[in-house]
Amino acid sequence: MTARLLRFGALAMLLALTGASHAQRAAVQPQPLKSGLEFTGAEVRELQHDDFANPGMLWAARGETLWQEAAGREAKSCASCHSDAKTSMQGVATRYPRIDAGAARLINLEGRIRECRERRQQAEPFKYESAELLGLTAYVTQQSRGMPMKTVIDWQNRHNFEAGRAMYYRRMGQMNLSCAQCHQENWGKKLGPETISQGHSVAYPIYRLEWQTMGSLHRRFRSCQSGVRAELLPQGSPEFLDLELYLAWRAGNLPIETPGVRR
Ligand code: HEC
Ligand code: HEC
Repeated sequence: MTARLLRFGALAMLLALTGASHAQRAAVQPQPLKSGLEFTGAEVRELQHDDFANPGMLWAARGETLWQEAAGREAKSCASCHSDAKTSMQGVATRYPRIDAGAARLINLEGRIRECRERRQQAEPFKYESAELLGLTAYVTQQSRGMPMKTVIDWQNRHNFEAGRAMYYRRMGQMNLSCAQCHQENWGKKLGPETISQGHSVAYPIYRLEWQTMGSLHRRFRSCQSGVRAELLPQGSPEFLDLELYLAWRAGNLPIETPGVRR
């Protein structure tokens, strides 16, 4: 942990010295768009690409089992309503997060699965970062693997998009750095053993070697917040959902990689 903070500290100084310009506050996608995988090194790439070696597959397999499991008052499974995920869930993840028509608010895939679990299955909702929620999210997202993201910003979600963009450029924490200063203005630079990527969301949930487990996108947001010693927001918070929408748009047409592997 200390080593990590020192690394982030060194970068903060570097950014201060080079006086990274902060004029660019408009919504921009990095050019050219590059998956985080391009910055991870060969072993991690190989792990992700080999379905038998990729540890994230264990979570996706758990999700597949859960998909079939009856639960709740009427003993319904996800499959009772959605039948085969391989067809019914294909492409779904490319459109998330999206506005939930009923509740008229932004919802991500985890939120949608929790809602279905609670309202449709009438069962206890899964907790954030539980093996169950990570498994089902990985399984549902995996049905869009290789498909490009398709985020549309319109009158319904523009407000959330703008809030996410503002947060992306806001300086935070004791190190006074924004997401954009690392992932928009300094991608490709070394930060200790890691190379800063463009910070895309398309591989999540991921198996992270440092965590030795699967983790959600919001958990990754929290590690970046803790790296600059900022206050950590809770998983599923409205701020994180807005940020997630901004990242989904920023990923342009990058293909979904879930389950991803990262250092
Ligand atoms: C009783 C039927 C029912 C059950 C059981 C159910 N769902 Fe759903 N689900 C729906 C309906 C209806 C929708 C349509 C959207 C809505 O709720 O507004 C939906 C929507 C979804 C969506 C979003 C699809 C899209 O195109 O945006 C996902 C993902 C999903 N469900 C996952 C699950 C998972 C995972 C489970 C099991 C934990 C589950 N559902 C259980 C009825 C069900
Ligand atoms: C001090 C630099 C720094 C700041 C500030 C920072 N990050 Fe990161 N972030 C990193 C590093 C280092 C990694 C791990 C290597 C990589 O994938 O970029 C990372 C990883 C990520 C990833 C995972 C990318 C992948 O392919 O797995 C996402 C998403 C991300 N950051 C989003 C954010 C967001 C959103 C913010 C603002 C709330 C933020 N980061 C702030 C340095 C930073």
